[in-house]
Order: sequence, then structure tokens, then C-alpha cells
Amino acid sequence: MTAPVLDVYLSEADAAHALRHDVRVGLSADPKWLPPRWLYDARGSELFERITTLPEYYPTRTERALLRQVVAQIAARAAVDTLVELGSGSSEKTRLLLDALTATGSLRRFVPLDVSESALRAAMTAVAREYPHLVVHGVVGDFTEHLELLPAGGSGRRLVAFLGGTIGNLVPDERAAFFATLHAALDPGELLLLGAGLITDPAIMIPAYDDAAGVTAEFNRNVLHVLNRELGADFDVTAFDHIALWDATQEWIEMRLRARRAMTVHVPAIGMRVQFAEGEQMRTEVSAKFRRAGLRAELLAAGFTDQLWWTDPDDRFALVLATVSLRKIAS
Ligand code: AVJ
Repeated sequence: MTAPVLDVYLSEADAAHALRHDVRVGLSADPKWLPPRWLYDARGSELFERITTLPEYYPTRTERALLRQVVAQIAARAAVDTLVELGSGSSEKTRLLLDALTATGSLRRFVPLDVSESALRAAMTAVAREYPHLVVHGVVGDFTEHLELLPAGGSGRRLVAFLGGTIGNLVPDERAAFFATLHAALDPGELLLLGAGLITDPAIMIPAYDDAAGVTAEFNRNVLHVLNRELGADFDVTAFDHIALWDATQEWIEMRLRARRAMTVHVPAIGMRVQFAEGEQMRTEVSAKFRRAGLRAELLAAGFTDQLWWTDPDDRFALVLATVSLRKIAS
């Protein structure tokens, strides 16, 4: 076993700086908003793991079952030397891929990228122990910022897995930038495996983000705990209600927090005083759902061709295996 390597492109100081920036921008906007990234401290990550086991939250189990069914087909098409995984929290799905790619005999290296150094170290240690034949090379970074710093493919090809439907957290402009940057970071013939939620009945989608047990509500409010702890803010977390809605025009689920009463919140770390009106709503996450044709076109426009698509029987989730084309196709 080779000792794992860790590249750190995102320090705790960078994260602290980014949080201050995001809170300054988001809480002075009208309407107010916060990026979903800050939902995921240790408690937020734990709450998200609980969400994935809820009866209403179908995406994780749907994607896992689909991946289990088609992973051998993916591996057969992807004689890759490196598996890159963007984002964490999909350890079981990672193992499905590692097993299938190992079985074809080509896989030599695993490159997980995550913003959380602690989560990354834990994942790396486990994978290094279970897959002693693999070189494990972790990257602490943000998938919207540090893609060009991924370890090079060298003589072998890389497969980049971006699973879980996290692509839906990006709004259309961010998504286009992400696909373009990823395409630029990869070489012709390298592969992307994308997991994306599809548009389905709102009566199915909305409860997935507003479960009866209230776990998603706690997850949503957790961002206020993060601001209280990291920035010394004085949010009364209990004074905010969880909202999940389907925006049929934008085609995304939106999580919001609604102030139950008028209040003033202080954020000393950035010298901010923020007023909330009674009933005021603040956006904390978008989770876009896709039409096949739309996502196919977005990927093609960024230069991801030869797309192979798999969906579950209820058409709620898709896996797409796409190849980096020689040249970007003009949109
Ligand atoms: C981890 C971004 C895929 O958007 O479905 C779950 C996060 N938010 N419940 C999603 C989430 C509310 C999740 N992703």
C-alpha cells in the first residue's frame, strides 16, 4: 500500500473568509439568501446522512439502486486508471464504482475531492485500507474553484464521478461555468459520470424536502447554528420555519427559512446588523431537477459527447456517462 497523498487548496482560513463574504453578500441582498455549502458542518453532514434514509427522500436510494444495476456497464465503457470523486457523502456509491472498476483491471488510483479536510481524511483512510492496490490522492478543494488543480491523468484516463444530484445546487449560470471548467480540466477521451434528479410529480419531490419527521427542517435551520458559532451571530434558530417549494418556472426545489416574527440579528464578525420582517423568507438552497433534453444539451454545449443515459423505472433520477470531446461544441 502506498501512503495516501493529500493536496490542500482550501485552508480553514479560506473557508472562514468565504463564509464571511457569502454572509455579507447574501444577508444584504433582497430577498436574502445563503449558499447551501454552509449547511454542511459536522452536524449538517450528519443530518444530511439521516435525510438519505428517510422514506420521503428518494434520490439517494434511487441513484444507489440504479448505479448498482449499471455499474458493470459503466466499468466496461470506462477502462480508466483513475476515479475522481467530486464531493463526499456517497461512500457506498464510491465502493460500487471502485469494485466495478477494479474488476476490469485498469484502476490504479482514487482521487476524492471535498471541501471538508476531516471528511476527506476519514474517507481516504477507509478506502486505502479496503483497496490496498490503489493510490489514494485526496484534494481538499471546492468543485466550483479547484478543478484545474486535480492531479493529471498522465498516461491513463480519468473518470470523474459527480453523484447525488449535487449538480442541482448550482443555478444555470454556475452550472454552465462548472461544466466548462470541468471540460477544460480534462483531456479528450476522459469521462464524466453525472447523477442528476429528474423532474417528477411535485407531490413526490416536495415531501422529499419537507419530511414528516422534520429532519430536513433541522438540516435547513442548521445553517443559522453555523452562523451563530462561526460569526458570533445571535439568530434565534427557533424563530425560523422551514419551507420547501417547487418553483415550476425555474424547475428547482427551493429551501427557505421564514422569520416567525420581526427581528434584528447581529453578526459581529462582519459588523452587520440584519433586519427580518415578520414572515420574511430567506433562500438557503436550490436543488434543480432536470429534463433529459435540457441536461443533454447543457452537457453537449460544454463538450461532453457520446452520452449514455440510464434512469430508474419511475424516471426520477438519471445517471449519465459522457465523454470529453476533442473540441468544445459551439452552443
Ligand atoms: C446533497 C445537494 C444532493 O439537493 O437533494 C437534501 C441536499 N437538501 N435535502 C439535494 C438536500 C435538502 C441534496 N444534495
